Amino acid sequence: MATIEEKLAQLRAKKDQAKLGGGEKRIEDQHKKGKYTSRERFAKLLDPGSFEELDSLRSDRKEGSTLGDAVVTGYGTIDGRKVFVFGQDFTVSGGSLGEVVAAKICKVMDLSVQTGAPCIGLNDSGGARIQEGIHSLYGYGEIFKRNVLASGVVPQLSAIYGPCAGGAVYSPALTDFVFMTNTNSYMFLTGPNVVKTVTHENVTVDQLGGAQVHMTKSGVAHFAHDTEDESIAAIRKLFSYLPSNNMEEPPRVACTDPIDRMDDELNTIVPLNPNKGYNVKDVIRMVFDGGEFLEVQSLYAMNIVVGFARLNGRTVGIVANQPNVLAGVLDVNSSMKGARFIRFCDCFNIPLITFVDTPGFMPGTVQEYNGVIKHGAKMLYAYSEATVPKLAVIMRKAYGGAYIVMSSKHLRGDINYAWPTAQIAVMGAKGAVEILKKKELDAAPDKAKFIAEQEAEYAEKIENPYIAAQHGFIDDIFEPKTTRARLAKVMEMMSTKRDDLPPKKHGNIPL
Ligand code: HXC
Repeated sequence: MATIEEKLAQLRAKKDQAKLGGGEKRIEDQHKKGKYTSRERFAKLLDPGSFEELDSLRSDRKEGSTLGDAVVTGYGTIDGRKVFVFGQDFTVSGGSLGEVVAAKICKVMDLSVQTGAPCIGLNDSGGARIQEGIHSLYGYGEIFKRNVLASGVVPQLSAIYGPCAGGAVYSPALTDFVFMTNTNSYMFLTGPNVVKTVTHENVTVDQLGGAQVHMTKSGVAHFAHDTEDESIAAIRKLFSYLPSNNMEEPPRVACTDPIDRMDDELNTIVPLNPNKGYNVKDVIRMVFDGGEFLEVQSLYAMNIVVGFARLNGRTVGIVANQPNVLAGVLDVNSSMKGARFIRFCDCFNIPLITFVDTPGFMPGTVQEYNGVIKHGAKMLYAYSEATVPKLAVIMRKAYGGAYIVMSSKHLRGDINYAWPTAQIAVMGAKGAVEILKKKELDAAPDKAKFIAEQEAEYAEKIENPYIAAQHGFIDDIFEPKTTRARLAKVMEMMSTKRDDLPPKKHGNIPL
């Protein structure tokens, strides 16, 4: 009979073997490509020494199968908060997903929901394990289903640190945020060879599904960094803004930035010329704690800016029109980007603060043919449905449908403020004068003078925030430099907000 020493030695040998995954040569190959192994990634992602591995000895029924198979799973902490993780191990069969890999991933996903802790998946895989046929497809299906059931219950984050192809892309796509690296990371449904056969296009993997493509064109990725180190640091940062589950508030941090801090520059940031832009991110930096802003999808639909900041130590979600890009107009892509972000914040008890300066929805056939009606409706839907505290500041233009969409009271906005520079109306002065004064304009001897006079009158009488304030649609108008203090106070007041939706299975957001 084996002695205890022999039993312990056997255990250690198996653990050591499992840690090597596909072996030293493949680990070296991984490093040569500038990639880390899953365990190396976890060592950087999680608090030192906190990683507890599960299923390291699991393998399939075949003799000599690699212990742990092609994924490393377990749990640990980030800043002391519990998190479940899985990382596909490219050193074992190219990280491909068969029955065992899927079962290991499903186990941590189930634990994540049962214990109310976020789940982070690091993807680096050749996709469905071809030899396992239907078993790998079944495995993916089980993962997708769990992604959906966990959606809105625990935050789910995905990083792509290698290939992610075929149907495999749908698990990251079902999660809340996707991180990519500018090297070694790509996502597509079908690779360049299939693309060439079917559509006769010649593309590289980067042109088809590299980080820049998904950051700028498709909107599939939310963050891209040059290295895995930067990406992992960014995951930790995002994590710090989020609650662990939908029953908790986001963690509150100590705030050293005085809440009554006033930045004089805010008073003059909106140019007098209504056709001139400015950078709304400067406004955000001047208002929120320490000037910090974690922007989400920074390169996609840049006419709207979304991301996380803190106000008096509380996480807030920010949605802001960007007057510097297309005058901050709302269109198909910005509506999708805004609506998804609003819904994420609402799922996870993150109050929303909206900064408004938009001339409205983009006209034209391109937008209409691409469904700006149904995509714009997503914004209406998301704001109306959200029950978290919703504050808004109208900085300048809030015309027509865009006034309604951008967190107005009519969509259950809670507290709506305006700066004295706000222009609230059905449309801008130029368009209004052309419609209302058409006959007089035709008869006017000096047309330019007539238009200028009429526009000035319109701006003074109709296009100002005082009418909205008179009717209670705007709760107050204040000096821009007091924005931080005002928002901090009202956020405190709104922090105990309770609101509900009528009972239903789920709504039918225009998809
Ligand atoms: C089984 C796989 C595999 C896979 C890679 N390997 N992908 N084994 N199933 N899907 C194995 C390789 O045979 C090789 O094993 C090892 O992993 C490393 O692969 P290499 O090709 O040597 O690495 P590299 O040159 O870096 O290329 C990586 C790759 C390529 C680009 C990912 O391997 C590749 O194109 N794989 C197939 C991708 C694919 O078409 N997957 C199916 C997608 S469809 P050895 O032992 O030789 O070293 C899909 C459907 C999902 O996923 C449906 C869900 C609904």
